[in-house]
Amino acid sequence: MGDGTRIEDSQRAAWSGLSSAWERWDAVITAQRAPVGAAMIDALAIPPDADHLDIASGTGDPGLTVALLHPGARVVLTDLSPEMLAVAQRRADARGVANLEVRVAGADALPFDDAAFGTISVRFGHMFFPDPGGATVELARVLRPGGRLCSAVWVDPSRNPWTSVAMDAIAAEIALPPPDPDGPSMYRCAEPGQVSAFFTAAGLVEVREWDVEVELVTSSTDEYWQVITEHVSLAAAALRSVDEETRERARALAMDGLAPYITDGVVRVPGLARCIVGTKPAEG
Ligand SMILES: C[S@@+](CC[C@H](N)C(=O)[O-])C[C@H]1O[C@@H](n2cnc3c(N)ncnc32)[C@H](O)[C@@H]1O
Repeated sequence: MGDGTRIEDSQRAAWSGLSSAWERWDAVITAQRAPVGAAMIDALAIPPDADHLDIASGTGDPGLTVALLHPGARVVLTDLSPEMLAVAQRRADARGVANLEVRVAGADALPFDDAAFGTISVRFGHMFFPDPGGATVELARVLRPGGRLCSAVWVDPSRNPWTSVAMDAIAAEIALPPPDPDGPSMYRCAEPGQVSAFFTAAGLVEVREWDVEVELVTSSTDEYWQVITEHVSLAAAALRSVDEETRERARALAMDGLAPYITDGVVRVPGLARCIVGTKPAEG
C-alpha cells in the first residue's frame, strides 16, 4: 500500500469517526466558519448558473451555502468520508436544497473530466491531503480556463486560541507525539505563501492570500470543552487514550485558560484562517 493510500485510509477513518460530533455541534461549527466561507464565496465571484465543486466538504460547507445562494447553480460536494457526506446530505435535505449532489472522492484523483467546473472551493482541506501540491494540480485540471479556485487553511496555533486553549491544557497532561511536518495535520499549511506556491506551481495566476478572523462562541466553558474534545481530531484522539482523572485535570486547565474569553457568561474564543484564491489562465 502506497503512502497516499495509507494516509487517505487513516484520514477517512478519523473523520468518519468524528462525523456524529460534527452533526451534533453543527450550529456552533457552522457559525464559527461562516466568515471564512463568505470570504471564499465572495472571492470566487460565483455566477448564478455556475458548475461549482466543493472539495473536502465534510458536513457540507461552503458548498451547501453556494447551492442555497444560487438555486440555478449545480453544486457537487466531495469528500473522502461517506459518513461526513451523509451529514452534508441531511443538512441539504433539511434546507430543501435540490441543486446539490455528493460524491465520495479523494482530492488527489477526482472522478471528473478536465475543465468540468467553473469554480472550486476547498475549506480546511489542503492540510489533510497526502500531497497538497499534487492535489492542487488535480484541482486545476478539473477547473475551466478562466475559472477560480479558493482554499482556506488555519494560521498558526498562536493565532487560534479556540483550539490552543484546549490543546495546551491537554499537552500539559498528556505526552503528545510531535506532528509529522509532511503528514496531515490541522496547522500543516500555516506558513504564509505555502498554499499560494502550490497554486502558482499548478499554473494558476492572479494568486493572492488574505486572513479572515473567526470566533468560536459557546454558551458555557463546559460546552466549549465538549465541542472541542468531540470534533477536533487531535483533542479527541489524545483524550481517548487516557483515564478519567487525566481527562479531568486537562479539562480544569482548559477552564483556567478560557478566563480571558468569557463575557457575560458567553465564551468567545478567536481564531484566524487564511484564504488563497487563484485563476486558471484563459486559453488562447
Ligand atoms: C476540517 S474538515 C472540513 C470540512 C468542511 N469543508 C468545513 O470547512 O467545515 C476536513 C475534511 O477533509 C476531508 N479529507 C481529508 N483528506 C481528504 C482527501 N485526501 N480528499 C478529500 N477529502 C479529504 C475529511 O474527510 C474531512 O471531512
